[in-house]
Amino acid sequence: MDPYLAIASKRDERAYADTPVPAEVRRRILDAGRLSGSSKNRQRWEFAVVSGQPKKDLAEAVYAPENVRSAALVVAIVGEAGGFDSGRCAQNMMLAAWGDGVVSCPNGVRDADAAAEICGGEVRAILSFGYPARPREPASRSAEEWSERANRKPLAELVREVG
Ligand SMILES: Cc1cc2nc3c(=O)[nH]c(=O)nc-3n(C[C@H](O)[C@H](O)[C@H](O)COP(=O)(O)O)c2cc1C
Repeated sequence: MDPYLAIASKRDERAYADTPVPAEVRRRILDAGRLSGSSKNRQRWEFAVVSGQPKKDLAEAVYAPENVRSAALVVAIVGEAGGFDSGRCAQNMMLAAWGDGVVSCPNGVRDADAAAEICGGEVRAILSFGYPARPREPASRSAEEWSERANRKPLAELVREVG
């Protein structure tokens, strides 16, 4: 998929099908995180793939438990990475997933101590992934159409020419 189309058509999805995420797709998502650039290339992160009882427990530590409970794959970015680095890492994973038809959502952490205990370190982001409950087809519209329809501030409001 064209990267701009992937970016323009990606929405944060919270309703997942029961279909598991195949091992190779999971590997690609995690590798997209690994490949992210970071300050001084320090890569101060680990990726906790959370399932079973720990996933149920982690669901109770976020603001929207069902996102985590119903996800086919849950990845926590754990470690000392700063906000900019962990944001890049999270978005890389979510865009790689979307390229493979897997939707996702970041999850705000309500109980940071519980999340850290479950994931084995300070949690920077909790990402829920899964195939969409309702089919999503990025190629059904052009990138420009997706951009036009996005619930975002207009570019004219955001861009200033300096100089
Ligand atoms: C740091 C962060 C935390 C978020 N936390 C939650 C959350 O706890 N629950 C949730 O449903 N969505 C969460 N979101 C998703 C936002 O609501 C979403 O990015 C925004 O509404 C845009 O959605 P859209 O891409 O579908 O238009 C979070 C997003 C970010 C960046």
